[in-house]
Amino acid sequence: MEFINLGSTTLAAQYVAIELLRQIQSNKRSKLGLATGGTMEPVYAQLVQLIQSNPVDLSEIQTFNLDEYYELDTESKQSYLYYMKHHLFNHIDIRPEQYNFPNNDSVQLEADNEAYDRLIMQDHPINLQLLGIGTNGHIGFNEPGTPFDSNTRMVELTNETIQANARYFDSIEEVPTKAVTMGIRSIIKSHRIILLATGEKKKPIMQQLFQMKYPDEVIPASVLIHHPNVLVVTDDAASPY
Ligand code: PGA
Repeated sequence: MEFINLGSTTLAAQYVAIELLRQIQSNKRSKLGLATGGTMEPVYAQLVQLIQSNPVDLSEIQTFNLDEYYELDTESKQSYLYYMKHHLFNHIDIRPEQYNFPNNDSVQLEADNEAYDRLIMQDHPINLQLLGIGTNGHIGFNEPGTPFDSNTRMVELTNETIQANARYFDSIEEVPTKAVTMGIRSIIKSHRIILLATGEKKKPIMQQLFQMKYPDEVIPASVLIHHPNVLVVTDDAASPY
């Protein structure tokens, strides 16, 4: 696991967007693992600009999002499907059948979760997985204590995560308390992973992660320590050193 501090938030986001573009340019059948959250908004804004100025064939890429709130209407503004359409999919040439999300409704949830894991691995694993990180070290909605061999499943969100996400809802009571998330097992099967952390709120968890020598389920992101191809990108405010 390598760390790089790119100074400004804009440069950090630009770097990650360029890596996404380069991945698509190097393999037009790329599978991309995508993340949501405030950190990723400038990444997608930059990626949209890059794609508009560097035409690239997107017709065969596939994307897999990490998570979705459980039973939240996917048409609602707080859903991650809405987020992805708003920040990326509506601005690039991609068809709905190319983007994938864990199913977030209760009908056949377990079968659907297994199908999502199979789809992620079908033909080949994800080429480039983008990750944010929670202040508690979560990746996707894999909260502290998640077994490293976990698959896609329904999870309970911690109070810390509910509070962090309340800014997108009218009141904290409206924040869903459950979500469906890609499991840690699927995440670490990705060929390459870029974790982006920006802003001073992420500094303490970055410092903790930077100092860890061995993975520990208490900090889910520490599973990345033994992955052969992980880059952690920060701005000055989140930099651990
Ligand atoms: P954020 O979320 O980018 O909104 O901080 C990151 C995460 O919780 O994974």
